[in-house]
Parts: sequence; C-alpha cells; structure tokens
Amino acid sequence: MSAPQTTPITDHQYDGIEEFDNPVPPWWNWIFLLTFLFSVPYFMYYTVGVGETLEQSYDAETAAFFEVMAKQLGDIEPDAPTLLRLGHDEKLMITGRVLFRANCAVCHMPDGGGNTGPNLTDDHFLNVKKIEDLYTVIHDGSVPKGMPAWSKTFGKPQMVVLAAYIASLRGTKPAAAKAPQGNAIPPWPAWTPPPAATGDGAGGATPAPGAAKAPAARTTDAN
Ligand code: HEC
Repeated sequence: MSAPQTTPITDHQYDGIEEFDNPVPPWWNWIFLLTFLFSVPYFMYYTVGVGETLEQSYDAETAAFFEVMAKQLGDIEPDAPTLLRLGHDEKLMITGRVLFRANCAVCHMPDGGGNTGPNLTDDHFLNVKKIEDLYTVIHDGSVPKGMPAWSKTFGKPQMVVLAAYIASLRGTKPAAAKAPQGNAIPPWPAWTPPPAATGDGAGGATPAPGAAKAPAARTTDAN
C-alpha cells in the first residue's frame, strides 16, 4: 500500500474491495464496436435472407458452369442426329446425368425408372413418338399431368443435353422400374459414329459398341 499508486481508484467499495479505474483501451472498444456493426448486415444478408442463400449461390455457380458448357456446344438443334450424337458423348452425358439428377429425379428417379413421372428407360411413351419429341416435352412440359415446362429454367443447350441424356437411357433396365405407360414406339434411328472416329479397323477407341448395343436391347423389349 505504500508504493505510489498512479492508477486512480473508482469511488465504490464492496466488502472493503476497491477497484482500479482502469478501462480497456479505446482501440479495444473500437474493435468490439466494429465487429458488432459488421455483424448487423452480415446477419441480415446470410441469415435473414436479404442476400443470396447458399442454395442461390450454388445455383448461380451451376448456371455459370452451364453457360460455359453451352458456349462449347455452340448452336445446336434438337434434331435426331444431334440428340443421338450427344447421347453417345460420354463426357457430356455426365453433365446430362447431373442435370437430370438435380432436376428430374424427384419424379423420374435418379436412374430414370419412374416414380410420379413415367419410366423413361423403356419403349413406352405417353408424349413421345420420335426422338425429337423428347426435347418438345422437356421444353413445353405436360403441365396438367404434372410434368413441368423447363424452358424458363434452362436454355436450349441444357434442354438438348437433357433430351440426349434421356434418349441414352432407353434400353437400360433399372431394378425398380415403373410399369410401361403409353404406347410402344419404334427404336430411335440408328446412330453411326462420325467417320473420323470409326477408322477402318485401326481405331481402337471407337464408341461403336454403344450404337450396336442399344438397338439390340430394344428388339428384345419390343417383342
Ligand atoms: C414434378 C414431377 C416431374 C419432374 C420434376 C419432371 N417430370 Fe418429366 N414427367 C412428369 C410426369 C407426371 C410426366 C407424364 C406426363 C403425362 O402424363 O403427359 C412426365 C413426362 C416426361 C417425359 C415424357 C415421357 C413420356 O412418356 O412421354 C419426359 C421426356 C420427361 N418427363 C423428362 C423430364 C426431364 C428431363 C425432367 C427434368 C428436367 C423432368 N421430366 C422433370 C413429372 C415430372
């Protein structure tokens, strides 16, 4: 108690205990205040929902990805040769599968076997008579029957990729597939890989078996 005491003492005393008047430094208070001020817009943005939710920023990134994909595909039309060609493009069909699983699987199941929506892997279709109709149904939907129109959600290239993906599902036989609905339709037109990829027996990496496999599966189904 004898050393010179420079820090002032507060004017209260409890049970004989005194308190130094030794406030936290101003910079500490400022940091506290700033973090608090920062938290207000942060909370509003991320929690209250003023800004993007995680889901929205995911969607934005997905959209950006598909924009890049669309640019790579260029100007494509949903005609039979394009749908068949894209349906045999293994890399692109990974994109097709991602699109399908994220948007269509709730009703058609991840394997296309059908749930509230019809089985997309068999030879029977409700709205489809030829391969191009796949695109039309995706674009326009079959709204009164519960199939949404996707033209507001997707651009043309995405819908073409989806149609190609669904075309490629035909003949696969998911374990728990829904019973056929609608009418049996003829097989998709035959697809031959472009000459550059075929070679004359020398090219080993030709996806030609895919073209042969699909019709074979169909003939057994149609009988
Ligand atoms: C909310 C449920 C639902 C979602 C989601 C959905 N569909 Fe469908 N889909 C249906 C129903 C129901 C039908 C049958 C329509 C009818 O009876 O005319 C159908 C029919 C179809 C058909 C025609 C099948 C046929 O037999 O004619 C295609 C192709 C198709 N959907 C593709 C898709 C694609 C691609 C997506 C995702 C981008 C998708 N669907 C998302 C419910 C859905």
